[in-house]
Amino acid sequence: METKKRILTGDNTTGRLHVGHYVGALENRVALQDAYDTFVILADMHAFAYPKYVGSPEIVSDSIIQVTMDNLAVGIDPKKSKIFAESTVPEIYELGMIFSMLVTHNRALRNPTIKEEIREKSLGDNYSLGFINFPILQAADILSVNADLVPVGEDQLPHIEQTNEIVRKFNQLYGEGSLKEVEGKVGRIKRLVGIDGNAKMTKSLDNAIYLSDTEQMIKDKVKKMYTDPNRLHPTDPGKVEGNPVFIYHDAFNPNKEEIEDLKQRYLLGKVGDVEVKEKLYIALNNFIAPIREKRKYYEEHLDEVVEILAEGSRAVRGEAKLTLNKVKEKMKLPNF
Ligand code: TRP
Repeated sequence: METKKRILTGDNTTGRLHVGHYVGALENRVALQDAYDTFVILADMHAFAYPKYVGSPEIVSDSIIQVTMDNLAVGIDPKKSKIFAESTVPEIYELGMIFSMLVTHNRALRNPTIKEEIREKSLGDNYSLGFINFPILQAADILSVNADLVPVGEDQLPHIEQTNEIVRKFNQLYGEGSLKEVEGKVGRIKRLVGIDGNAKMTKSLDNAIYLSDTEQMIKDKVKKMYTDPNRLHPTDPGKVEGNPVFIYHDAFNPNKEEIEDLKQRYLLGKVGDVEVKEKLYIALNNFIAPIREKRKYYEEHLDEVVEILAEGSRAVRGEAKLTLNKVKEKMKLPNF
């Protein structure tokens, strides 16, 4: 029997997914699920790594369902892909604890994404041990199912690098070929700007358009969107490059001729923000409408969502047990 290569990827359960997640990672995930055996993790324990969520179990728990529905709505097919919650596979914790022995304290603190998040979220030194362990737990997620490829947003690449360091260290200490290095894969847009023009779309800055937003919400958000800050009148020549409205047109409007026309007129001062935004809102809504429709089905069939997660968990535990047994055997840990 021919075995397919494997994908493991997923999301922290810290709220619904937005269009930045889509272009950065989800799109790849959906496109690749035929060619790869795909595992999608709802990283609920990772959510508790954040000071903001450690005291909010109801948000983390509700997000498991919301993020699962987001994944199903964009086209993850439960017949092809396994979807599961991290905390339901305790073998991952065991692997995470083992892997933490292979990473120096200093190395853990040097992870660029961890450093950036400490800065961005003004955590100072008020973060948990689990927060620093975040990439190591992620390595356990990835290696538990023996993945080959990890489609993720650009900010996650340092975690892939740390995963591969763990693989090399493990193999060096306990036998070459024991674990397999993985490859990261970033989506067509590495980092989508927020509607406020901030470099990153993120819930914490309240600058995101969600995959579950209603038509009215999209309309209101597009209306508020930042454009060229130096352009005061529709007759002023405007800047297209780096302008969030055009970045979004390029990302979500399939009508390339319309975009070209708008850009030309914008540069010449022959179109107002109102028209550019109106067309963007229509394009964005056309993009989200079928996702919203599919999501509605699952919102009305929550028992199916729960069943998908239960089935995913069963399948992944089987795989993770195999990996854990192999790891323990290599380390000569007892199996009695
Ligand atoms: N940490 C990832 C994020 O912030 C989500 C995640 C958790 C993940 N475990 C993973 C991604 C394993 C890929 C593989 O988006």
